[in-house]
Amino acid sequence: MDSISTINEFRGKVDIVDVISRYIPLKQRGKNFFGVCPFHDDTNPSMSVSREKQIYRCFSCGASGNVFNFVMDYEHVSFPESLRIVAEKAGIEWNGITVSKKNNKNEKYYELYELAHKYYQNNMNSSYAKKAKEYLLNRKITEEMIIKYKIGFSLDRLDHLTKLLLSKGYDLTTLNDFGLTNFDKDVYMNRIIFPLYDLEGRVVGFSGRRYDGKKENKYVNTKGTPIFQKGDILYNYHEAREFARSKNQIIVMEGFMAVIRSKEAGIHNAVGLMGTAMTKEQSKLIRRLSENVVVCFDGDEPGRKACLDNGLELEKLGCQVSVVQLEDGLDPDDYILKFGEESFRNLVKNAITLSDYRIKVLKKNIDLSSDLEKSEYIQSVLVETSKIEDEIHREFILKKLANEFNISYNTLEKRLLSLLNQKELDTKKQKRNEFIVVEKNKEKKDKYDLAAYALLYYMLVDKRCLNYYNEGKINFPREEERFLASEISYYDQKYGIITPADFYTYLENNDKLKKVLNDVLALNLDQQVDDMVILDYINVLKEYQKNQERNRLEKLMKQENDVMKQAEIALKIALLKENRNEKLGS
Ligand code: UTP
Ligand code: MN
Repeated sequence: MDSISTINEFRGKVDIVDVISRYIPLKQRGKNFFGVCPFHDDTNPSMSVSREKQIYRCFSCGASGNVFNFVMDYEHVSFPESLRIVAEKAGIEWNGITVSKKNNKNEKYYELYELAHKYYQNNMNSSYAKKAKEYLLNRKITEEMIIKYKIGFSLDRLDHLTKLLLSKGYDLTTLNDFGLTNFDKDVYMNRIIFPLYDLEGRVVGFSGRRYDGKKENKYVNTKGTPIFQKGDILYNYHEAREFARSKNQIIVMEGFMAVIRSKEAGIHNAVGLMGTAMTKEQSKLIRRLSENVVVCFDGDEPGRKACLDNGLELEKLGCQVSVVQLEDGLDPDDYILKFGEESFRNLVKNAITLSDYRIKVLKKNIDLSSDLEKSEYIQSVLVETSKIEDEIHREFILKKLANEFNISYNTLEKRLLSLLNQKELDTKKQKRNEFIVVEKNKEKKDKYDLAAYALLYYMLVDKRCLNYYNEGKINFPREEERFLASEISYYDQKYGIITPADFYTYLENNDKLKKVLNDVLALNLDQQVDDMVILDYINVLKEYQKNQERNRLEKLMKQENDVMKQAEIALKIALLKENRNEKLGS
């Protein structure tokens, strides 16, 4: 077996829906699955993934391909690397070609961080860390947790780590660039060191906490470096990933202490932002883990604001957001220590929807003596309510509202219905726009292009059409179409069974033909086709060819001065016209 066959066999064992849904949440609609396309800025589910065809396609930006193309584009990796990743994600052994491990240019800096991390961890066992350890134990961070979460300690010295790293042969410029030293001094002095990880779980930074009770500079973090950008990571992402997937839920918290304490309480699907600010990148990472997001920020004003702001951002990305609101002054760590793990797990279980949360917040802020404020409040509540899918839930809110403000239920219901109608109109509009984009893509092609593309598609999925081609009955007008057709024919002779998904692999190094294949598949034709349809398309191409020939002859005739030769050409043209209605198959 050659490598293409091996790869095809491997691809045949993988389900593209399964793999892509590990990157973006997919929802089934009819035969296909839909999700938000990660290859352009979008919030609409414009990417469709076909389980039947094992390919994906975005209506909006045109990205398409098989499972390997998706992984290559998503992870920015080479084709061999995509094989390895797909094997890993699908949990299928990749026993074909040995795929070399990614040769990462940052490997030596990860090693550098590992070294520094080991050093900090060792310090934790020295007598210098006695007070720091006391502080941790006091906070109910046990010896086991110190080991499990790899917590370290930086000595109260100016340049202990700097000297150590220099003695290992690292130069000061590198150490400075990668945030491990501050000129010729250590970055951390007398602090408890928490490791920070990148998305793959490599240590790429530290957060050092002071433990003397003072509030200023409570935490000092590694500065931005080529391998660490605070806004590009989430604490615990690499470990939460699998749990988030299997629970289909991700919990977002402020800090790593909250995440660590939650893990101890058996909650493994939580990630930490390291503050209340959430970058666009972080929101996308969260969305990738699951569309069901629970935000659980600290019980203070910034925490409440973060719930609303970050919640809204996540909603815009298509997430279903719910909220855990902690009581004043507590963060998840405090809460668990005060009320217990069980109680916290219940809080998470009973998280309220973002809509309900907004209604609660709105209510807090209204002046009940002002009719204007009251009616504004009621309108806002209705707007929030219209976003709620569950009818019964909506009815509850209306009843409560009617009682509370002594308004008739019918009035409220009428208002709500008109809001719901508006919403439905908007989604219809959006669907229509999607449709128009698809139709426009079709329109751009004239009937000859359409015929050529259709025939290329049928060559891929229908043996009869392939035979017509091999018998010389199909003449494609354009060069790239001819190339693609001959590749299809060659592939079929060499490998027998041909599927669009495998054909993508075969075209891996040919961007031009891959683009034609994309356009061909974008037509979204049915695999089942009547012979008549194929013959019709073949005739369309014949007609094209004749027209071309006629144009050529007419031009020739204009240039010709010899009367006899002119007559000869005229005869040829007349014959072409005569044959015009003579069709293949009839
Ligand atoms: P918090 O102030 O809520 O800290 O900041 P915490 O997680 O409760 O930690 P303890 O309990 O006081 O030890 C939340 C996150 O914001 C970042 C840290 O990443 C922290 O995890 N932060 C906070 C800083 O980077 N610098 C600071 O000075 C404070
Ligand atoms: Mn805390």
